[in-house]
Amino acid sequence: MKPTTVLTGVKPSGQPHIGNYLGAIRPALEFSGQPNTETWLFIADYHTLTGAPDPKRMREMTYEVAATWLACGLDPSKTVFYRQSDVPEIMELNWILSCFTPKGLMNRAHAYKAKVQENQENGKEDLDFGVNMGLYNYPILMTADILMFSADKVPVGDDQTQHLEIARDIAQKFNRQYGEILKVPKEVVQAKGKSVPGLDGRKMSKSYDNYIPLFEEPTKMRKLVMKIKSDSLPPEAPKSTEGSIIFELYECFASPAQVEDMRARYAKGIAWGTAKEELFNVMDAALAQNREKYKSLMADKSQIDELLKKGAQRAREKSVPFIKQIRTAMGIDA
Ligand code: TRP
Repeated sequence: MKPTTVLTGVKPSGQPHIGNYLGAIRPALEFSGQPNTETWLFIADYHTLTGAPDPKRMREMTYEVAATWLACGLDPSKTVFYRQSDVPEIMELNWILSCFTPKGLMNRAHAYKAKVQENQENGKEDLDFGVNMGLYNYPILMTADILMFSADKVPVGDDQTQHLEIARDIAQKFNRQYGEILKVPKEVVQAKGKSVPGLDGRKMSKSYDNYIPLFEEPTKMRKLVMKIKSDSLPPEAPKSTEGSIIFELYECFASPAQVEDMRARYAKGIAWGTAKEELFNVMDAALAQNREKYKSLMADKSQIDELLKKGAQRAREKSVPFIKQIRTAMGIDA
């Protein structure tokens, strides 16, 4: 049986936090162990360019995201791991696909619509104020990423499912004219990580400034854990695990036996300080090794360069002949 191709992309966007790890990175890595699947994971650096980052920051963010995934257990011998910008055929396909993308489809893309709405609310006369064509065409590039490697499944978060629908539409439109060349990604598999509470109980997020950086040094991480919001019940009072931020985070890192033990201690009465201490301990135990690996990769980036180069070679073994096939089908022969 032909293996299923599972492909996803991550945009470089700075230091990840624990919410990113539990919600996206860990579930995606679990995916990569499944039988008869081929996993592809790439760094969507050209997608980040829509925000025109400073070049130094751009380079740094790219290394950060690569080192993060490798440190968290991505195995480049099992997963094709590459940088989007190292595969120029994707950009070629991007243009080709743009010629099969109705403009109206892009008008309805949510990131663009959100910008327009923001301009409306701010009373801007030009509703396209601050919109560059990269942002506008973002879903087309994402479509090229997916179709270039004939992905069967694309695990993405909620905010990206519309882009998957767009990818399917574009592939079908192309195929109607040229035959069944592009694989229509069939299944949208939601990355199933749960939403992780931050220090104040709202979803952990950079924009709420309630996050714990994934690779924070232990002393600083401990301090952040101590800041987690709790109520003012006295230590001996029985406590509810329901709605307890500390307990929810504990569950994400502890073993089932540890979780049950903690549940019993909540019922009996546990001091919040003690519960936080224990949370820090399981967190640190789960992340210490990854943190060291991250630091060593960031200290010698040539290891990352080497791996990404190899990944790009593997990717291009597919993309080079495939783009040729696509061009030939369209009557553009090299
Ligand atoms: N747009 C995705 C995000 O912001 C990243 C991405 C780019 C992607 N190309 C992709 C995800 C292709 C899946 C498939 O999260």
